[in-house]
Amino acid sequence: MTVRSSGTHPIHIEQDVVLARQLARKLAQDCGMRLIDLTKLVTAVSELARNTMVYGGGGDMDWQILDESPRTGLRLTFRDEGPGIPDVKLAMTDGWTSGSGLGLGLTGAKRLVNEFELDTAPGKGTRVTITRWT
Ligand SMILES: Nc1ncnc2c1ncn2[C@@H]1O[C@H](COP(=O)(O)OP(=O)(O)OP(=O)(O)O)[C@@H](O)[C@H]1O
Ligand SMILES: [Mg+2]
Repeated sequence: MTVRSSGTHPIHIEQDVVLARQLARKLAQDCGMRLIDLTKLVTAVSELARNTMVYGGGGDMDWQILDESPRTGLRLTFRDEGPGIPDVKLAMTDGWTSGSGLGLGLTGAKRLVNEFELDTAPGKGTRVTITRWT
């Protein structure tokens, strides 16, 4: 597997979430992703970018276009240095929210991609990596 191209997009304010979504859509198009898969990925991006902003206090979305012939992938990492998630199992439960959300963001995002990785600890921030392949 090789990384064809990569970059970073900041996520601090509402508008950054909109831009993250637009960037993910463009990158997915560049990968030749099918519309249905692209739509799933962009939905996951909305959820994860919003979590980065709301709970993480802002952060970044790193992106990589992956070459693994014959398939192409888009890998996105949402990183923040916020409080982290104390109970990952609970956070990955449908309907559980620490705030006033629906508690469907993380679990929903996981279902919409091919690979999902959550790396977090109290005081260490949060890192969510998702990958969608063509
Ligand atoms: N980046 C993050 N940093 C710290 N805590 C987080 C982060 N992302 C998620 N969490 C915690 O995990 C919980 C579940 O997140 P999830 O996105 O599934 O639901 P939600 O954001 O509460 O509601 P919504 O359905 O509106 O997304 C959050 O309520 C929050 O406590
Ligand atoms: Mg959420």
